[in-house]
Amino acid sequence: MSGPILVFDSGVGGLSVVAALRRQLPDAGLAYVCDNAMLPYGLREDAWLVERILRVCRAAVESSACAGLVVACNTASTLALEPLRKQLAVPVVGTVPAIKPAAGMSETRHIGLLATSATVGRPYTSRLIEQFAGDCHVTRIAADPLVAEAERWVMEGRLDSGVLRDVLSPLGELPSLDTLVLGCTHFPLLKQALAEATPHPLRWVDSGDAIARRAGQVMQGHDPQAGRDRAWISADNDALHQGLRRFGFQRPEALPLS
Ligand code: DGL
Repeated sequence: MSGPILVFDSGVGGLSVVAALRRQLPDAGLAYVCDNAMLPYGLREDAWLVERILRVCRAAVESSACAGLVVACNTASTLALEPLRKQLAVPVVGTVPAIKPAAGMSETRHIGLLATSATVGRPYTSRLIEQFAGDCHVTRIAADPLVAEAERWVMEGRLDSGVLRDVLSPLGELPSLDTLVLGCTHFPLLKQALAEATPHPLRWVDSGDAIARRAGQVMQGHDPQAGRDRAWISADNDALHQGLRRFGFQRPEALPLS
């Protein structure tokens, strides 16, 4: 297997997974692709989204000659992992909400899921909850406005803490909830600000480290030098160039979508 590990998201959220990959696989060559022209994915219609994800990932896998693809997006993974695995010739690792570890950690057996509207409503998510958190009460909170806040945070270094407080306000009525799953890869980028905005202290759980471990197993033997640190974006944006640079991706290229 040669080529970098390619990380895909709608926007900058996959950079939280890049950070975990860089921590756990410091020698790995990474490449990045985001479909920023169509952000946010969490408010889009399913059938359209599957087609779009397949089109973006096909183009990026071809351009990067990657060893494998990490779908660093819960909204995409809970919908399109199966068709992606059928259509792509490289291994695909997905990202789904960390319900299982959260259920393992909760003392009160009341956990929360903070994710996009699409992810909180998906049958895939309901199956995860039934399978791994059957003895827990699970409160699902749609938190789409946090996607734009994370984008702004990475690109411009500023965010609106009022938006974070509003999104987290339902927790004020849920004192027994002790563990919160960050089920969107954008949200770990805001973890510190979220912890400051929450009405009571919580355990925070995301999937970043587990995905990095899985990618290391599945894509063993990838070539650390080939094609590393390249990035592709679907709409040009100077602020996004800067954000990507902070995570080691120097000169994003236009994604050649057919
Ligand atoms: N980062 C993506 C996720 O993990 C979604 C953001 C979006 O709505 O585009 O779900």
